[in-house]
Parts: sequence; C-alpha cells; structure tokens
Amino acid sequence: RSPVITIDGPSASGKGTVAERVARVLGFHFLDSGALYRLTALSAMKAGASLDDEAAVAALAAALPARFRDGRVWLADEDVTDAIRAEAVGEGASKVAALPAVRAALLERQRAYRQAPGLVADGRDMGTVIFPDAPAKVFLTASAEARAERRYKQLIEKGNSASLADLVADMQARDARDTARAVAPLKPAPDALLLDTTHMGIETAVQAVLAHYAS
Ligand code: CDP
Repeated sequence: RSPVITIDGPSASGKGTVAERVARVLGFHFLDSGALYRLTALSAMKAGASLDDEAAVAALAAALPARFRDGRVWLADEDVTDAIRAEAVGEGASKVAALPAVRAALLERQRAYRQAPGLVADGRDMGTVIFPDAPAKVFLTASAEARAERRYKQLIEKGNSASLADLVADMQARDARDTARAVAPLKPAPDALLLDTTHMGIETAVQAVLAHYAS
C-alpha cells in the first residue's frame, strides 16, 4: 500500500501549509479533508438544505461533484476556491462535520486519495479514523492566541478587518466544538508525533514532519 502521512490538528495550527509543503517535497498527493466538509456545507447552503438535516446533507456529501486541480477547487463547473474559505462556510463545515452520516458519506472518498507514490492527508481525524494504519502521523498544535494571531494576519493581508480578541474567542469555541463532539473528536492518535508550533516557523515544522517520516 502507498504510504500516508497524516497531519491533524486544530484550526489555524498551520497544518494545511505544512501538509502541502511536505507533499510537494516528497511528490505525494495531498488531501485537504477540511475542504470536503466546506464543500458539503456550501452545497447544502446552495441547495437551501438545513445544516442539521442529517439525511439531506449526507446525501449531498455522498454525491459531491468536487474536483481539486492546480490549487483550485471546483464544485461541478463552478470555481469555489474562494467561496469555501468564507467564514460562514467554515462555520457551516464545523456543523455538518458533527453529523455521523456526513462523516460516513465522505469516508471512502478520502481513502481513495491513497495512491502511489504516497499521500499527505490534512484534517482532524486522518490518523485516528481515516488512515489508522498510516506509517507516519503528526498532531500539530499551537496556543489559541498564536493561532488567532496567524488568522488575524491572513485576514488583514487580504484587506479584511478583524478583531484579535474575537478571533481568540472563535478559536476557543471551535476547539471546544471539535474536541467535544461525539463522532471523530479532535484528538491525537496514540502513535502521533506532537508538534507544538506556537514558537516554531513553518519551515522548521516541515523539516520535523519529514524527519519523522524518514525515521
Ligand atoms: O481552517 P479550519 O481549520 O478552520 O478549517 P478546515 O480544516 O478547512 O475544516 C473546516 C471544518 O471541518 C472544521 O471546523 C472541522 O470541524 C471540520 N473537519 C473535520 O471535522 N474533519 C476533518 N478531517 C477536517 C475538517
């Protein structure tokens, strides 16, 4: 079987950037599982489905016409790369991600990304649920303050206004929801390497993941 490196962790821990860089260095495929939950939420919003209608949202997730290409994300013939990053869609994603039938509907689609020469999978439950037999697992964390600060910088760079205090509160609320939910709660796999990036740059984190994989 092709190797998988799983990178899990909370919102804005830097795991997306780290995972993408590791994939590029190794020439591996890359799975952004959060994007699948975001796409599911966006589909539900477009279809006018209620985000807590588990059967309806799971049906949309199972049939998601999603494509990832050259860094762009498509839903059928619509480029939704920017649309899925909207705050409301992130909120929606975290709601639909708490529904067991939605997680089940996305399970096989995620496993299908495991192809030669290998995969780097970014998410919350990559090492615990989707690829429990992955040869290298990493759990990336950082303090809520550090993560809020990173999100703040991203928002300001894009010309948005933001409040650091609000972002810290959002971060803590989302952490609480992700760790408290009944299905696939956010937690490190028992065999995961814990990497706290509060005082660590992206490049150092990338090197640590590569070293862990090589060991
Ligand atoms: O950037 P952020 O971490 O907020 O979002 P993301 O990684 O794109 O994930 C969006 C939402 O999907 C998160 O709030 C999680 O609740 C959920 N998610 C999940 O439950 N399981 C995954 N494997 C990935 C994301």
